This record gives sequence, structure tokens and C-alpha cells, in this order.
Amino acid sequence: MRVIAIDGPAGSGKSTIGRALAERLGLTYLDTGAMYRAVAFVALTGDIDVSNDDLVGTAARSMALSLDGGTVTVNGVDATQEIRGPQVSAAVSTVAALPAVREEMRVRQRSWAEAHGGGVIEGRDIGSVVFPDAVLKVYLTASEAERAARRAKQLGDSDTDAVAAAIAKRDAADSSRRDSPLVEPDGAVTVDSTGMGIDEVVDVIVGLLESR
Ligand code: DC
Repeated sequence: MRVIAIDGPAGSGKSTIGRALAERLGLTYLDTGAMYRAVAFVALTGDIDVSNDDLVGTAARSMALSLDGGTVTVNGVDATQEIRGPQVSAAVSTVAALPAVREEMRVRQRSWAEAHGGGVIEGRDIGSVVFPDAVLKVYLTASEAERAARRAKQLGDSDTDAVAAAIAKRDAADSSRRDSPLVEPDGAVTVDSTGMGIDEVVDVIVGLLESR
């Protein structure tokens, strides 16, 4: 099983780079952030307290989730747009800090990798906790200003300061939680993508892989 783990803070380009890298290498790609977002979506639409580990954990375990072809289907509903919306984005760090949710997501991520023989997997705890034996661990980052600008462009939001504040708040929550916080995993290579284009970053990662 060959897993390439990409972790890093919000807006560092993990999804864009992960997808492009997977395409270049002919591997499958898993966006684990979309999985936590799907759980937040289920909790919000079910009127479940997003900080209740038991209730949200139960909802996560019974959730039917498909991430095929970029469409996110949650319990039969196409939630592709909603999981990127402001309500889910505001709640997702609370949901992602719940141990019962993380436990269930780890099980799903490992069985996904087994079924696909590995792949490019991105998130916050992929190299540190979920796949500590990944063939390559990348900690992808970029300057705060660039991450905010990229995220604002993606959201079509012209208020870059507000976007910067929102991602800083999410990064602080993701880095300070008790269960598998965002860290630079042991053995990871840090790639600072500030000022770099997509192909350039993919070239760097392919180079790292070839040098292994
Ligand atoms: O990558 P993203 O912004 O879509 O991730 C959404 C949230 O999910 C993020 O705030 C942290 C959480 N997350 C996590 O805790 N562990 C992962 N492996 C992936 C995402």
C-alpha cells in the first residue's frame, strides 16, 4: 500500500495539489477534510449539537458517504456545495475535535486506502496518525497572506481580512485540539508553496518521491 500523505493548514493548497499530484502519478485521491465537513453537515441538518461527542459520533458511524468524482453525497443528498458553505466551515473544527468522530473517520480512511492500494491522501493528521508509514509525508504550507488570498478567491469573497481571520481561527482550533492535532508529522518534508504555481509544487513533490 503506497500512501502519499499531505497535511497542512487551511488554504495551503492541499486539495489542488493533492488532486494534481494524484493525476500526475495515476493514483486515486482522498480529501479527508470533505469527510469531516460531511459529518458537520449531517449534524447541522439533523439539529444535533455539534459539540456532543456521543450524538455526532453516532451520526458519523451511520453516515452513508460517497466522494466519487468530486461529488459529495451524504445520506443520499448531494452536499457538494453545502459542505464548503459558511455554516459547515464555522462548525467543522468543533466536529473534527470529537474523539468518536475521529475514530470513525480513521477507520474509513484506512479501509479506503486498503481498497485502493493507497493513494494521495490529504488532511491534518494523515502522516502523523492515520498513515504514519506513508511512503512520503508532505507538510504543505504558504504564508498567511497567500493562504487567505487563495481561499478568498476560491470562495469568491472580496473581504480577504475576514477570510484570513476565519482560517486563522480554524487553524488555531485544529492545532490545539487534544485528539490528533494538526502538526508537522515526524519524517515529513515541509514544502512552502508561497509564490509557486500548481505544476511547480507538484514537480517538487514528484522529485521528493523519486529521491526516496
Ligand atoms: O481541509 P478542509 O479545510 O476541508 O478541512 C476541514 C476541517 O476538517 C479542518 O478545519 C480540520 C478538519 N480535518 C481534520 O481534523 N483532520 C483531517 N484529516 C482533515 C480535516
